[in-house]
Amino acid sequence: MTHPTERAAWRALEAHAQAMAPETMREMFARDPGRFAGFSARLDDLLLDYSKNRVSHQTMTLLMDLARQSGVEHARAAMFAGEKINATERRAVLHVALRHRDHSAIRVDGADVMGPVRAVLAKMKDFSVAVRSGAWTGATGKPMTSVVNIGIGGSDLGPVMVTEALKPYHQPGLAVRFVSNVDGTHMAETLKLCDPETTLFIVASKTFTTQETIANATSARDWLIGHLGASAVPRHFVALSTNEAAVTAFGIDPANMFEFWDWVGGRYSLWSAIGLSIAVAIGFERFEELLEGAARMDQHFLTAPLDVNMPVILAMLGVWYNNFLGAAAYAVLPYDQYLHRLAAYLQQLDMESNGKGVALDGTPVTWQTGPILFGEPGTNGQHAFYQLIHQGTKLIPCDFLVAANSHNPLGEHHDLLLSNVLAQPEALMKGRTLAEVKAADPTLSDEQAAHRVFSGNRPSNTLLYKRLDPRTLGMLIALYEHKVFVQGVVWAINSFDQWGVELGKQLAKTILPELKNGPTPGAHDSSTAGLIEAVRAMRS
Ligand code: F6P
Repeated sequence: MTHPTERAAWRALEAHAQAMAPETMREMFARDPGRFAGFSARLDDLLLDYSKNRVSHQTMTLLMDLARQSGVEHARAAMFAGEKINATERRAVLHVALRHRDHSAIRVDGADVMGPVRAVLAKMKDFSVAVRSGAWTGATGKPMTSVVNIGIGGSDLGPVMVTEALKPYHQPGLAVRFVSNVDGTHMAETLKLCDPETTLFIVASKTFTTQETIANATSARDWLIGHLGASAVPRHFVALSTNEAAVTAFGIDPANMFEFWDWVGGRYSLWSAIGLSIAVAIGFERFEELLEGAARMDQHFLTAPLDVNMPVILAMLGVWYNNFLGAAAYAVLPYDQYLHRLAAYLQQLDMESNGKGVALDGTPVTWQTGPILFGEPGTNGQHAFYQLIHQGTKLIPCDFLVAANSHNPLGEHHDLLLSNVLAQPEALMKGRTLAEVKAADPTLSDEQAAHRVFSGNRPSNTLLYKRLDPRTLGMLIALYEHKVFVQGVVWAINSFDQWGVELGKQLAKTILPELKNGPTPGAHDSSTAGLIEAVRAMRS
């Protein structure tokens, strides 16, 4: 296997990074009045402005060469064709099938998956309509007022992020809540808000073996049985899973299980049955609009030439900073309160997918892979960590996201928000020179002025959309999914496994009985054994 660093375009980009080092974006903007038009892309109502990056046209050409030489086009075709590109788990990667809208077949091992996909969607439709209309009643005949999704990781973050993002579309009187953490506080505090007679639990787990989810589901079931008796369980519990045997063993009627398949990765699963809480919250028609938005981005990703392909552009800019300009982190900054869980969602999508240290050929990577991702909604982040982004010693590329129109046109708020989101990338790009600082305030000493200088030349992308509706959100999520995929291809890693989360899970199983019995002699390092003893001693 050719390693990324051996590719001709990689070497050319290393040399090019040196050549670009003296260039500033300020100068590039001054030289080229058409820079915005030359470095932006549109898809329907979504605009990507990537002109405030440390790139020239030659940089973009070289980055696209690298994408091509890395086999991005081939990998893209292989994913959409249902090939088993998740090599370590020998699985296809077909979240695109979940939102495939036309009637063509998508095959895995020769079988068209679209029949089962449509059948589950139809079942989700019937169920969500029944819950929302009140036709689905609990054991005492009352309609549901609370729906609690119990899941973690991909079985939680996507549905949470989307239901929060699409709050304007929720049905009044039907609260959708999420419990993920094994910390009993999460379940206990949620149950305080619920009436057992009108609460529906959706147990979301691909494997149906995840410790946190099974513990939470068991506690929820105990709570329900405590109030309404065991016979109430079938009316108050449904499951989203690939594991019918475990669902049945838990006591959930298989008729109330919504199936998905091993070719749906956990962090790519919100489009599948895992999205049931979304469909209940916003209604099935809106859920379909979400799928349609994603399908629109899928078609763009599949068919657009690389140099005008939004996910590819975002991915290769990320590669540029990560591998050639030494940026370890990356910030996602939605100026959209409804997207307040976007960074948390993207952390799993990006960091669980591309936080890998072994290449596809099993050798350790000698190049950087996935970045550290963080973010908060604007303008809150401005008053917290932006200081470091503006004047710190680290290079942190940013994605700014904002809607031109608010769902809540309250006084001047949206213009205030927009002015901030437009100002931040400008400030990051331009900075402020010593001369400008002094011109603004001639009374400042040199020393005082130095603290007010902004080096500038700090990169960002801006994603502007008309309004945060289900279709737009679908496009945005799929954009990031494909971006992460392209980067994984360039880095020659498998973006679709997550072996890195296994070791901690195994050790937790070893430690669990030791909390009662004390640490097994010789089983742990002195720190872990000491902490187990300390916990035992402190427990009242
Ligand atoms: O964190 C590891 C992981 O396997 C994720 O990839 C997954 O989304 C999550 O656990 C939950 O898994 P499950 O849906 O099987 O409960």
